[in-house]
Amino acid sequence: MFYCEGEAFEKLSLVRRDKLLVEPGVASRRIPSTKELFMQISFPAPSAFWPAVLATSLGVTSMSTPAPVKAQTSSLPVQDVSPGAIVDALKTVAGNPPKVRASFAKGQCVRGTFTPSSEVFQVTRSASFTRPSAVLGRFSIGGGNPKVADNNRTVLRGLAFKLGPQGATSDILVENAPVHFAKSMEQMLRFLQARAPGPDGKPDAARVQTFSEANPETLNQAHYVAARPLPGSFAGTVYWGVHSFPATNAKGETRFIKFKIVPVAGEVTLSDEDAKAKQPDFLMQDLEDRIAKGGFRFDVLALLGRPGDPTMDVTQRWPDEDARVAVRLGTIAITALEHNAPCDGTIFNPANLADGIGHPPDEMFEARQAAYAVSLGKRRSD
Ligand code: HEM
Repeated sequence: MFYCEGEAFEKLSLVRRDKLLVEPGVASRRIPSTKELFMQISFPAPSAFWPAVLATSLGVTSMSTPAPVKAQTSSLPVQDVSPGAIVDALKTVAGNPPKVRASFAKGQCVRGTFTPSSEVFQVTRSASFTRPSAVLGRFSIGGGNPKVADNNRTVLRGLAFKLGPQGATSDILVENAPVHFAKSMEQMLRFLQARAPGPDGKPDAARVQTFSEANPETLNQAHYVAARPLPGSFAGTVYWGVHSFPATNAKGETRFIKFKIVPVAGEVTLSDEDAKAKQPDFLMQDLEDRIAKGGFRFDVLALLGRPGDPTMDVTQRWPDEDARVAVRLGTIAITALEHNAPCDGTIFNPANLADGIGHPPDEMFEARQAAYAVSLGKRRSD
């Protein structure tokens, strides 16, 4: 049975076209060490070091005031469009705070459990999702500033979690928007460059407007977040995996899915007025309070793809995505706060996926493992 076709079918290298089966071991291929990744990554020359930027949808507030950089109109040289360049840009945006993540720098590590549903085999044979396991998670706030206020309306909320038995773990990273702000690495760099702050620490509004008019899809994420009330609790937030993941079920059939993580007790939101009255760390405090009262749960849903879905462009939702059939893969219970060391000492690696969930075919996903490794290297060496 064929579930994917067209553009994605041509480019999806992880599946065999005869039956669209994920090659054994491919989806869970060996994760290169940080050292190996550093060897593969091309860094821009020091003169091309990315300027500080202020990106609305990243919710970052520049803490430094570097020289303004003119928006470029021609294509960037290929060697400059690298995961390392993106990490440099993210770090510079946040004023280069040492020893913290380049993105989603503020966060709290937690522990819990995953319990599979009875329907999970319809969607995936992944041992990460078909077997009960412990969960290590981290709730976070978007941007590279570890001191960002929790009631900042422009920042995303994130959740990264590792589940699955030893030898078959997967890392799933989700955020409270269903789309990313760029569909290509070059567009991501240009998005950041366009928001480079001038000497006054603010971006040039005309330059941002010019970029946005030429790249309207880069505003999809900011529009989505702006149209919704501020999340009032990590426990009451809906999170999306954004990419289209090829999932192979117990019968060996592969189809695209999107991860959606939904709070069992419903969403918790704040009016703008209530949000303004909150303390800068209210989300962290709320997390602590809810765990002290016994914790909370999320359903892990797989939204089912259909032929023709845009699986290569992470700035686009699937048509009628909110009305898609959603299969519950299982439930995560968050039961304990954890010291941050187990989360900060390593990365949640988007490419770590046990057989049964493959790598999304888009170019942004491909870049993520290297970007996260560079970020880890920087926070270790800062
Ligand atoms: C498209 C969907 C994406 C989602 C849902 C997502 C989500 C997340 C989350 C939740 C974290 C925090 C991880 C943690 O708590 O340890 C994170 C970190 C990070 N993200 Fe992404 N991200 C996405 C795309 C990207 C892309 C395209 C890049 C760059 C090419 C990127 C670069 C980073 C970096 C550098 C970090 C810090 C990693 C570390 O130091 O551990 N992300 N992301």
